[in-house]
Amino acid sequence: MMTSEHGIEADSSINDAVEFINSFVREEDAKKTVEAYSQSVDVYEKGMGNANHKGALLTIESFLKLGVDVNTRIVDIGAGTGALAKLLRPAGYCNIDAIDGSERMLERAKEQNLYQNYILSIVGQGHILPIENDTYDAMIMSAVFCPGHMGTDAFPELIRIMKPGGIIIWAMRAPHLYADMSEKYRDGRFEADVEEMVQKGKWKHYNPPRTIPYFHGHEGVVFTMEVL
Ligand SMILES: C[S@@+](CC[C@H](N)C(=O)[O-])C[C@H]1O[C@@H](n2cnc3c(N)ncnc32)[C@H](O)[C@@H]1O
Repeated sequence: MMTSEHGIEADSSINDAVEFINSFVREEDAKKTVEAYSQSVDVYEKGMGNANHKGALLTIESFLKLGVDVNTRIVDIGAGTGALAKLLRPAGYCNIDAIDGSERMLERAKEQNLYQNYILSIVGQGHILPIENDTYDAMIMSAVFCPGHMGTDAFPELIRIMKPGGIIIWAMRAPHLYADMSEKYRDGRFEADVEEMVQKGKWKHYNPPRTIPYFHGHEGVVFTMEVL
């Protein structure tokens, strides 16, 4: 049973868990969204687990196939409580920074000592990250591109902090599944924004987009881009 707008009980049904995840997905300012995550930090991981959310697992599975050096400098955007780092560290990758707009989600990751640096910032909406150009070799993201979270307007800033030749990899719900909620995901607009950056020579597809089972009854996609 749901306990509150963003609450969830241990014995929640799968539908409650899906509803929990969807409760964060709204067409609103990212500041409000990250505040909702801060308020739900104690139940976030349980909610993702109950919904059998595979975003983090599939992002890391795709990343590990690239076989990049374990010392490579990685940034996790929308790191939350550290789901991606928890999966990456056992494979030897420990040089990872976390960026998230939610202070409490980042604090939870910090309590577990999962990242090197914890950078509190909204990404996109014109925010400039406190990070120099050409800093990272790899960028990983799961469950961050969606309505009310981070949009394609963030692409130039994401690319700016990446070294040329760096890999950006992310998993997201299939964009068309948000079509009813947001015009930014309607009629292939999200994919068109990815291609616009290809046309501009900012990045290219390192691997073709891969369709994945994302979470209960929802299709997802993994994008793997190489920064030019
Ligand atoms: C669904 S959670 C994903 C967390 C983690 N990547 C995972 O797989 O468990 C989304 C995270 O992105 C953060 N977030 C959402 N929109 C953001 C934005 N525009 N800038 C920075 N962080 C954002 C939220 O605070 C939250 O921690």
